[in-house]
Amino acid sequence: MSRSAHPAGPRHADVMTEGHYSAPAADLNVLDEKVWARTVTRDADGALTVGGIAVARLAEEFGTPAYFLDESDFRARCRAWADAFGPDADVFYAGKAFLSRAVVRWLQEEGLNLDVCSGGELTTALDAGMPAERIAFHGNNKTVAEIERAVEAGVGRIVLDSFQEIVRVAHIARSHGVRQRVQIRVTVGVEAHTHEFIATAHEDQKFGIALADGQAAEAVRRTLALDSLELIGIHSHIGSQIFDMAGFEVSARRVVQLLAEVRDEHGVELPEIDLGGGLGIAYTSEDDPREPHDIAKALSDIVTRECESAKLRTPRISVEPGRAIVGPTAFTLYEVGTIKPLEGLRTYVSVDGGMSDNIRTALYDAEYSVALVSRTSEAEPMLVRVVGKHCESGDIVVKDAFLPADLAPGDLIAVPATGAYCRSMASNYNHALRPPVVAVRDGEARVIVRRETEEDLLRLDVG
Ligand code: LLP
Repeated sequence: MSRSAHPAGPRHADVMTEGHYSAPAADLNVLDEKVWARTVTRDADGALTVGGIAVARLAEEFGTPAYFLDESDFRARCRAWADAFGPDADVFYAGKAFLSRAVVRWLQEEGLNLDVCSGGELTTALDAGMPAERIAFHGNNKTVAEIERAVEAGVGRIVLDSFQEIVRVAHIARSHGVRQRVQIRVTVGVEAHTHEFIATAHEDQKFGIALADGQAAEAVRRTLALDSLELIGIHSHIGSQIFDMAGFEVSARRVVQLLAEVRDEHGVELPEIDLGGGLGIAYTSEDDPREPHDIAKALSDIVTRECESAKLRTPRISVEPGRAIVGPTAFTLYEVGTIKPLEGLRTYVSVDGGMSDNIRTALYDAEYSVALVSRTSEAEPMLVRVVGKHCESGDIVVKDAFLPADLAPGDLIAVPATGAYCRSMASNYNHALRPPVVAVRDGEARVIVRRETEEDLLRLDVG
């Protein structure tokens, strides 16, 4: 797919392949439970409700655009992951998908650990009371200040990402008089995305230390030689929105091979491996994600098998799902502003948000679903493109979808599965005010991240 430059963003024709959308669902009023948060349903009047509250009330109280997050669904998914992996494994929620202090508290209550990848995420985690030993700190270029903060706080593990970082973390740990627990992130030569994985061109990326050419083995050698570091394991993360377990299989096999080499060379059996995140969710009815139990079983079978054949003790496994926990739990609610039918093409439906609250469509050509949620409709389906209010033609929220032909300004529409990487990647482009995140549970709604205000914008602009 071409990404040729254009003064106002990618040209539609480059980004949007024509005619790839499927036929409209038989009944546009039906909400596919695969893509909607668990407590979402329609009430007797046909309006969507979440946690027992109708969207019209939510829109009135909190405004649009806004993200509504189904707290009981979030908690249930945390429990499902923790139960699936059991007491002999660790689940680290990847905070980059979406992090707030309320989320940190839910994670603690549900027994999950947390992966952070910046000083800001670390601050949020610590401020909300996450015990430092349950935090893993990631990043390919952690600053000295960030490392110092993490070491001082006593984070459970720092994931080393480069040769420089080995000595940097060792030095900081020594000067604080501590022995820091670390993992080494390796690039296993697999890059997986959605339905496929590729085993070529993989070392050409900024993360981790390559297994190839003995580089990871050298990183292990150097780490083991440093007294202020305690090497607890090897980490690998292979990609995003993955459905096929084949990439994890290759990755686990290669990590276990490294563990065997380490045992042979140093007489040390590293006790842990972390297989990262990247498990896919349903954005549209066509996606078929796997359940946490299936994933846990597949991963632990692979690791056990590989360890048996290498005659290694099976290490403790950890995983870092972000999207798979928070993604499906939220939807973005928008109000329809203008509707422009383009004869023979499609109808452009403009909403009061856009690429500032969901950059994923423009950035990754991501697919989303959309539904009319303030009412039901028996009108014919019409092919729409849901676009935002930004000064950019690539400002697309949902490329191709069907909404009822009687859609009108003032209707509320919602895009499901926006819990991950939407608020966390939101921007102030065009001085948009980033929307709030509202947690809904058992008939109660509460703001967990408030809407930005124009005062917020002016406060940053020191004049
Ligand atoms: N662990 C590590 C080391 C990671 O780098 C990531 C994601 C995760 C875990 C969590 O992956 P998840 O389970 O959420 O897929 N902005 C992109 C995704 C970038 C993911 C980066 N790393 C998106 O919107 O699709």
